[in-house]
Amino acid sequence: MDITLPLIHDYLEVTRPPSDPTLRAMEDYGHSQNFPSLGPQCGRLLFALTIICGARRIFELGSGYGYSMYWMAKAMPDGGMVIGTDTDPGNAALGREYLRQGGLLEKTDLRTGNAIDLFAAETGPFDMVVCDIDKERYPEVFELAKPRLRRGGMLIADNVLWSGRVLDSSMNDASTNGIREFTRRIFADPGFFSVIIPIRDGLSISVKTGG
Ligand SMILES: C[S@@+](CC[C@H](N)C(=O)[O-])C[C@H]1O[C@@H](n2cnc3c(N)ncnc32)[C@H](O)[C@@H]1O
Repeated sequence: MDITLPLIHDYLEVTRPPSDPTLRAMEDYGHSQNFPSLGPQCGRLLFALTIICGARRIFELGSGYGYSMYWMAKAMPDGGMVIGTDTDPGNAALGREYLRQGGLLEKTDLRTGNAIDLFAAETGPFDMVVCDIDKERYPEVFELAKPRLRRGGMLIADNVLWSGRVLDSSMNDASTNGIREFTRRIFADPGFFSVIIPIRDGLSISVKTGG
């Protein structure tokens, strides 16, 4: 199920400015491999949020070959840092090469390993945390992010509409239930103000409002 009407998606694609050459190469690679990257429209939103938040320290769980990291690092001034994570060493190596091509190596650190373990080892504070790992682990990421985000910082999660599966009561697999539980928690927590943006596969933004 497409979340965005195809006509609207096409309109957004033809009206947005073109991606830079490295991003274009990453997008072409993603299409050729059918890799579930969050794509240019969410990438542009991450770029805007990085600026709005004045982010200097970002942690991403599930970075693939660095596409979303690239957008955030590009939006940050010198001295900023995006820490990315992926279980697959091949993805991480390819990501480092794309980030090098884009002149973003100084602002990025793409690590290989389990994102949950790598995040748990960090004390923060982070300005932004981005969650794009296995969906059953989303609730755990929210709990880990709470103390590691500064007040005013944001937790951003991709795929929160999960191709519409979240609204199909016959779907009860671990991934769909993980996203449902994550969504319940981000809206129930009085220390966060959350919103879901229905672009691509749904992106949630949770601003830490409490101490
Ligand atoms: C949907 S892809 C998105 C990558 C990136 N955020 C993007 O938009 O281009 C998710 C990535 O997370 C990685 N991943 C899934 N679970 C993970 C985990 N527990 N720890 C680290 N990486 C994980 C996968 O290998 C995959 O490359």
